[in-house]
Amino acid sequence: MTRFDLVVVGAGAAGLFCAGIAGQRGLRVLLIDHADKLAEKIRISGGGRANFTNREAAPANFLSENPNFCRSALARYTPADFVALVQRHGIAFHEKHKGQLFCDHSAEQLIAMLLSECEQGGVQRWQPCRVAAVRKTEAGFELDTDRGAVQSTRVVVATGGLSIPKIGASDWGHRLAQQFGHRIVPLRPGLVPLTFAPAAWGPFSNLAGLSLDVEVSTGKGKARGHFVEDLLFTHRGLSGPAILQISSFWAEGQPLTIDLAPNQDLAAMLLAAKSTSRRQLGNELAAHLPQRLAQAWLELQRLDASLAMPQAKDRDLQALAQRLRAWELQPDGTEGYRKAEVTLGGVDTRELSSQSMESQKVPGLHFIGEVVDVTGWLGGYNFQWAWASAAACARAL
Ligand code: FDA
Repeated sequence: MTRFDLVVVGAGAAGLFCAGIAGQRGLRVLLIDHADKLAEKIRISGGGRANFTNREAAPANFLSENPNFCRSALARYTPADFVALVQRHGIAFHEKHKGQLFCDHSAEQLIAMLLSECEQGGVQRWQPCRVAAVRKTEAGFELDTDRGAVQSTRVVVATGGLSIPKIGASDWGHRLAQQFGHRIVPLRPGLVPLTFAPAAWGPFSNLAGLSLDVEVSTGKGKARGHFVEDLLFTHRGLSGPAILQISSFWAEGQPLTIDLAPNQDLAAMLLAAKSTSRRQLGNELAAHLPQRLAQAWLELQRLDASLAMPQAKDRDLQALAQRLRAWELQPDGTEGYRKAEVTLGGVDTRELSSQSMESQKVPGLHFIGEVVDVTGWLGGYNFQWAWASAAACARAL
C-alpha cells in the first residue's frame, strides 16, 4: 500500500495551497479531488478574475458561531503575504473597491501559481479520484480510493462548501467530520440572492435589471448586519452586493430594512420642493431615485405622479420619504446553493485547534477552508480564509 505523510482531500483553493506548502516543507503529499476539472471555483470567481484577497481582511469580516477562532490564522498569514506570493509569480492585479484585489487578466493565473507551488513541493495529484472511506489506524489513516488504498500519517479535509453542486461541491467533508464525532454547525447558503412570495413581489417584478446604492440592515445586537452597497432588482427578488452581503446575516422569518435614498434628507428635500419646484411629483422624486423605481413606488403608495409639487400634501410627502428610507420587507427564501457563493456553518471550530486546524478529537485529522464554520463577507475574504487556514495547517505539520 502506498504511504504518504499527508493526504489532502479537495484540490480547491485551500487544498492546493496547503499541499504546496506542506510539500515544500519536505512532506510526502498526495492531493485528491473527485472533480474532472481542477479548481473550478477559483476559475469562475470574481467574474473570471478572482477577487483573491482583501487588503483590509480582519476577523470582523467573518461569521462563525465562534468568532475568535479565525484570529490566529488570519494574523499569521495576511493578505500582504498572499500578495507577495502573487507578485513573485508575476501576476498583475488591481484594487477594485474597498480593498478587493483582482487579477488583471485571469483567475487561471492563480490556478497555475498554486499548481506550480505544488510541483515545487513534489505533490502527487490524483484527479478525478473518489475517496470511498477513511479509517483511523494506529499509524494514522487508511483511505480507500478509486486508485487503490493509501496510508497516511495525516489527513487534511479541504472539500469546501455546498454551493454550486454542478462543479463538484459535496457534503463529503461534513459527513467525514460527523463520522469522527465532530459537530456540524447547521449549513445554509450565504452570499446569495433573496426571493419573495410572487404576490408580494408583483409590483416590483418589472424593475428587474435596475440597480442603485442602498443601505440595508437586518437582525439585532451581535447578529446585526449592516451594509451600504449596490442593490439589484431581479424577476424573483433582490440581488447585488448589498443583498449578497446581508443574506449571510438574514434568518428565515426576519425582515430586512432598506434605505433606498441613503444619506439624503428626502423628507426635507421634498417639502422644500413644494415651494421651489414646478415639477410634477413623479419627476421630483425621480431627481432622487431611478425613474422606474420612483414611478413604481408612487403607484404602490397610490400617489398621483402627475400632481404638481405645490399641491402635494406635507403628510403624503413625509410618509413617502419615510417609507423609502425604511422599506421593510420580508424575504421568503434564497436562491439556494445553486446561486450561493458560500456555505455558512460547517465543522464546529470549538473542536479544532486554531493553531493547526487539527481535530481535538482525532489527532492527525485537519479541516481547512470553507468546510469549517468560518464564512467571510463578499469581497475576497473567503479566499483569504482558504489561504490563511491552509497555511496555519501546513506550517504546523
Ligand atoms: P473549494 O470549493 O475551492 O474546493 C473544494 C474542492 O473539494 C473542490 O475542488 C471539489 O471538487 C473538491 N471536493 C468536494 N467534494 C469532494 C469529494 N467528495 N472528494 C474529493 N474532492 C471533493 N471568494 C472570494 O474570496 N473571492 C471571490 O471572488 C469569490 N467568488 C466566488 C464566485 C462564485 C461563483 C462562488 C461559488 C464562490 C466564490 N467565492 C469567492 C468563494 C470561494 O470560491 C470559496 O470560499 C473558496 O473556493 C473555498 O475554498 P475551499 O478550498 O475551501 O473550497
